[in-house]
Amino acid sequence: MAQRLAGSVPPGADLGSWLTLLASEDLRGPAWCAVLPTVLVPRTEFFRYPEQLLSLRARIFKRPRPGHVWSAACATGEEAFSLAACLGEDTRVVGTDLCQEFLGLAAAGRYPRRRFDSIPLVYRREFQEVAGGIAIRPKLHGRVRFQWSDLTDPASYPERPRGGWDAILCRNALFYFEPRRRREVLRFLARELSKEGVLFLGPAEQVTGIGELRLLRLAEGVYAYQRPRRPESSLGSSEPAKAVEPEPLFQIPPQVAEGGASWDGSTSEGGSPRELLVEAAALELDDPEAAKALLGQAAAEADLDANLHWEVGRAFRRLGEPALAVEALRRALLFSPDLWEAAFLLAGALFDLGRYREAQGVYERTRRLVAGATSDPESNAREADATCRDRIARCIALQGD
Ligand SMILES: C[S@@+](CC[C@H](N)C(=O)[O-])C[C@H]1O[C@@H](n2cnc3c(N)ncnc32)[C@H](O)[C@@H]1O
Repeated sequence: MAQRLAGSVPPGADLGSWLTLLASEDLRGPAWCAVLPTVLVPRTEFFRYPEQLLSLRARIFKRPRPGHVWSAACATGEEAFSLAACLGEDTRVVGTDLCQEFLGLAAAGRYPRRRFDSIPLVYRREFQEVAGGIAIRPKLHGRVRFQWSDLTDPASYPERPRGGWDAILCRNALFYFEPRRRREVLRFLARELSKEGVLFLGPAEQVTGIGELRLLRLAEGVYAYQRPRRPESSLGSSEPAKAVEPEPLFQIPPQVAEGGASWDGSTSEGGSPRELLVEAAALELDDPEAAKALLGQAAAEADLDANLHWEVGRAFRRLGEPALAVEALRRALLFSPDLWEAAFLLAGALFDLGRYREAQGVYERTRRLVAGATSDPESNAREADATCRDRIARCIALQGD
């Protein structure tokens, strides 16, 4: 950093006076505008960490109102445009960064052609080929706005939507700060979230000991942070807690299927089983048969990965293929016999198939497994246990019919 700063000294000036000038100048002033692009790293790409984007999409589409998402530290804008493409027409995205030059590139919305490679085929219609590269189509561009903001200064943050942001992505920027400042930034960001809003960091970034944030598991291997739930939120409700099945990994909303999006599946060749799974999720509504084929491929290559077999089983069940789900979930339990989530879904798939006696046995097994997991506040174990009890009674009744 010091070397880079030294390298930015204009001809005729010395380092000391240059540093004095920087210290006195606003971060948006001309001296900083010259320095920041040389010291900051705008490394980013379209659809970076797609699992995070897909699970965010599953959350956002459950909401009745438009979504508001903030791509904090958006660099040259790829993250903001990916969010807008993935989250659909009802979502507005604001991208912010410290570097005006990066923001200028983001607002221009033109990128070298090689950036196309990381855009899933299903979303490529939002981008158009132009001479020398790709450009964001106006419709998509219209849902994204860019503005300058410094993460360390809440006064510079974009205007908070009513109720707060549904999601804030602050990925791969915290490494610029020392730990105390990092925690401070996270506290600031937490205040900007809506009650149900989520904060994503880069998958390799972790925070602990910040009372304003609690870790939330959105899907296998996908984590976000949320403001802690206030106990009063459950008061005043006379409805008993409903027993629910654990949330599916990715729910593909109908909106995404509109417009005849095409996907030729060619990118899946040579993909890892997890990539196949993500591609299959994106295809579930558009082309369920292709999704099933990809899931079959993922299962064949999943080897001993119990979580992957579980996710394949879950996807097959969503696609109305309980027999294939049973196969995948049995494999998951073979490699990880304590995976209660797999047992729970297996029982459900057997139930779907009308195999009530087997389903009853697996629900009972799930309850035994769940007994060890109910202390984890992040897990759905308690609700699953209630569902198991209910289903066992139904299995017994249905066997008697
Ligand atoms: C490596 S890029 C990450 C881009 C994108 N979030 C991603 O994960 O692909 C880090 C960005 O953080 C920005 N940044 C660094 N310090 C910042 C600050 N104090 N306020 C806002 N942005 C900052 C940099 O300008 C850079 O564009």
